[in-house]
Amino acid sequence: METEIIQRFLESVGSKADVDLYLKLFRAQKKESFAIIAAGDPIIKHALDPVHFDLRILAGLGLTPVLLLGLYEGREADRQAVRVKEWLVEDAVPAQIVSCGPDVSVATLDTVRAAISGGAIPLVSLEAAKDVTPEGRFRLLATMACALETRKIVYLSRRAGLEAQDGKPLSDVNLATDYDALLANGTLSRRQASLLRHVKQLLDNVPHRMSVAVVNPLHLLRELFTVSGAGTLIRRGSRIDRYPNLDQLDHPRLTALIESAFGKRLSPTFFLEPVDRVYVEEGYRGAALLRATPVGVYLTKFAVERAAQGEGIGTELWSAMTRDFPSFFWRARPDNAIGPWYVKHCDGMVRVGEWHVFWRGLGVSEIEPAIRHALSAPVDFLPSTPVAS
Ligand SMILES: CC(C)(COP(=O)(O)OP(=O)(O)OC[C@H]1O[C@@H](n2cnc3c(N)ncnc32)[C@H](O)[C@@H]1OP(=O)(O)O)[C@@H](O)C(=O)NCCC(=O)NCCS
Repeated sequence: METEIIQRFLESVGSKADVDLYLKLFRAQKKESFAIIAAGDPIIKHALDPVHFDLRILAGLGLTPVLLLGLYEGREADRQAVRVKEWLVEDAVPAQIVSCGPDVSVATLDTVRAAISGGAIPLVSLEAAKDVTPEGRFRLLATMACALETRKIVYLSRRAGLEAQDGKPLSDVNLATDYDALLANGTLSRRQASLLRHVKQLLDNVPHRMSVAVVNPLHLLRELFTVSGAGTLIRRGSRIDRYPNLDQLDHPRLTALIESAFGKRLSPTFFLEPVDRVYVEEGYRGAALLRATPVGVYLTKFAVERAAQGEGIGTELWSAMTRDFPSFFWRARPDNAIGPWYVKHCDGMVRVGEWHVFWRGLGVSEIEPAIRHALSAPVDFLPSTPVAS
């Protein structure tokens, strides 16, 4: 497929900035670490067309996922692999069938790696492991993901993602905070609850950074190439650390994080301004900085490094912040993409010139002084010094 057609299709899936960002990220990784896509029997039977289209686009972009067949039910996996291969080969997309037994052998991994480095999509069949329990097959997947240092596992589903019983898909599941509640209150169907348990087991067994997406093949490319994603993104969840000021923080790391998030250079006076509460994601991938002012608590920075945006870290910081602070206010540029999300999470907002000012939990008499404060706060970035994302 021609590169230009592929690029145009991807831009219809998400914004050009998002697509370019993810392409850059995926291409910067080791080729074999891109993704493992697990497609079950019903997907191959009823949704092979979109899967095939997704794989063609990815191959056209030089991205080579591993397609895993037989993760839940191994009996038909060899035949499914042959079927997928026939479809791909017809469109001149190179693919190679790889059989995986009850252990992921060195030979299997070598074959997968060789296929990928030769530009062929490995179609890994677990039929030879069909007598292993589903738990065992998820362990095989974990072993493979560890060896390839896979960054994303995609579980293709006929549904939109993990769905609550009202049929609404859950966009983000943080295992650290949501797992017990999701299993305890019968939110998920029996099948999806079992998938969630297996995903937890998988993420617990993989030491490197990896996420799992449950997505319909029709939305796979949107999941991979947009910040907002599609389907359900399941993450191990991060620890959010709290600090009373900036003193104990690693200033260069915090600077790098904020500059990457905003794409601008911080003013050298930034660390001289007082800050009264800081929330930092354990790996310095996100931070929120709050300042106590005479008119209330001001959220002065809310940032997640560019490469990690859309993974839910912002939401985790937000929950930590809102648990501790019932009221605060903040501002954003009108063209900031996060605006609609702020609207959902504020009690009120006002548009004034080049700023939107938002607040939560303020009394009526506190709103006007807070707006004035937000509008007069200094800009913490140097003018026209963009930072490459
Ligand atoms: C704003 C920011 C901190 C959010 O952090 P994040 O980790 O990306 O946020 P999450 O992944 O938790 O997503 C939170 C919501 O924002 C949405 N969102 C995040 N980035 C988005 C973007 N670029 N475009 C559209 N929506 C976006 C997500 O879809 C999600 O919405 P949902 O809950 O309705 O699905 C982060 O995007 C960022 O650092 N942006 C640049 C700096 C910035 O503008 N900071 C705020 C200045 S006021």
